[in-house]
Amino acid sequence: MPVHSSALSRELPVGVVGAGTMGAGIAQVAAMAGHSVRLVDAREGAAESAVQGLRQRLARMAERGRLAPEEAAAIGARLIPAGGLAELAGCGLVIEAIVEDMKVKRELFGELETILAADAILATNTSSLSITAMAAHLERPGRLVGMHFFNPAPLMALVEVVSGLATDPTVAGTVFETARLWGKAPVHAANTPGFIVNRVARPFYGEAFRLLAEQAGLPATIDALMRESGGFRMGPFELTDLIGQDVNAAVSRSVFEAYDYDPRYRPSLFQRELVDAGRLGRKSGRGIYDHAEGATKPEP
Ligand code: NAI
Repeated sequence: MPVHSSALSRELPVGVVGAGTMGAGIAQVAAMAGHSVRLVDAREGAAESAVQGLRQRLARMAERGRLAPEEAAAIGARLIPAGGLAELAGCGLVIEAIVEDMKVKRELFGELETILAADAILATNTSSLSITAMAAHLERPGRLVGMHFFNPAPLMALVEVVSGLATDPTVAGTVFETARLWGKAPVHAANTPGFIVNRVARPFYGEAFRLLAEQAGLPATIDALMRESGGFRMGPFELTDLIGQDVNAAVSRSVFEAYDYDPRYRPSLFQRELVDAGRLGRKSGRGIYDHAEGATKPEP
């Protein structure tokens, strides 16, 4: 069971690995909470352009009166693109938000262990992969914990704090308190595939894709129905375009495998088609919907 711990000191820098949709948002949250944040990405120039995008976002928030201009500038200055993992030495907490792939995440944490202090916390933003398995080959498996933010990270309050079999309860406690200090609403979750939200959400996406395959309705119709009659803020297709079709397909596959191919969680072939076509959603300009500038929003 997690125990009560103190939040991470604001004096300690936070590292974020992966400067995509989630990494950028998490970096913003940590910088707004007062930490110096070092952002790393394997793709050349990705960390720099993410930081540039975040500074523009902060400037827009200042223009709209949601932040004092000097505060926006100070937060922007705390966001630092880093050239490699070695620059994360000294971070008290490193959160990874890279590709949803166990092998790649394991390799990353193995390398981070050789760079960070023994008491640093390693956190993964995985949506579905086992924290226990991810930690199994580490020297200090007790230091790894799930810190699962939701998209968009600066706006969504929920953070699932996921403990694997080896996670030190004080580590889970520190991450829980840190998330709270960062203005989030953390919950402790068990290390079950998909944790809480993604477990419940899988059938939401899965059934919607099945409806599409059965030509029961257009995506825009199904989305509108779920919004207007179901009370959801976004329909399943809008949401998967926001999440990223590649990320959502990887999570679907991982939950399906983890539940021993239970047909309830079977991914749709159309999800794979979208990924193969590069139609990843908002981030690539097209997914289920066309998000290119000037594209008209589909009517149900
Ligand atoms: P993304 O595709 O937008 O960004 C991933 C970034 O990681 C890319 O910039 C890529 O260049 C970088 N990357 C890949 N391998 C790397 C490595 N070995 N070292 C350093 N950088 C590397 O993906 P997104 O959506 O930000 O997802 C990241 C993680 O967060 C995944 O584990 C995903 O399951 C999880 N997640 C995603 C959510 C979503 O709505 N997109 C919500 C909550 C969690």
